[in-house]
Amino acid sequence: MAKINLTVNGEKRSADVEDRTLLANFLRDELNLTGTHVGCDTSQCGACTVHVDGRAVKSCTMLVAQAEGCEVVTIEGLAKNGKLHPAQAAFTECHALQCGFCTPGMIMTTAALIKNHPAPTDEQIVHGLEGNLCRCTGYLNIVKAVKRAAELQGK
Ligand code: FES
Ligand code: FES
Repeated sequence: MAKINLTVNGEKRSADVEDRTLLANFLRDELNLTGTHVGCDTSQCGACTVHVDGRAVKSCTMLVAQAEGCEVVTIEGLAKNGKLHPAQAAFTECHALQCGFCTPGMIMTTAALIKNHPAPTDEQIVHGLEGNLCRCTGYLNIVKAVKRAAELQGK
């Protein structure tokens, strides 16, 4: 067991965890933040993407112990003061989801992508989303939503 301290969605959290606990499982099982989805558990689908110190990370690939002292943001913490993040607003506006399983991870990846590329090209979007799989949408509206998110971010 290890004692860990980290910040999740702006709140300081401490817990005793088994050394092998994955960040994804900690968020879902200990903190009940079930917006972080687990689709594959093998680092392929991106449904579990969260931000760790501002970077998009697949939380099924990281031990919670590796997040010691870090700032973690999940889909539940992305909206601020009741206002959707531009990525959330754009996915809604562009109908960039169907079943929604991939959506939290897509949105977390998009939020990080438009921070690094405020006016992303198609190539940057495709490259940026290559670690996130969607089995429903065919990706066209997701790419549109990323572009729209960048526009909304600039307003
Ligand atoms: S559950 Fe983490 S990448 Fe699929
Ligand atoms: S909307 Fe169903 S997996 Fe992407």
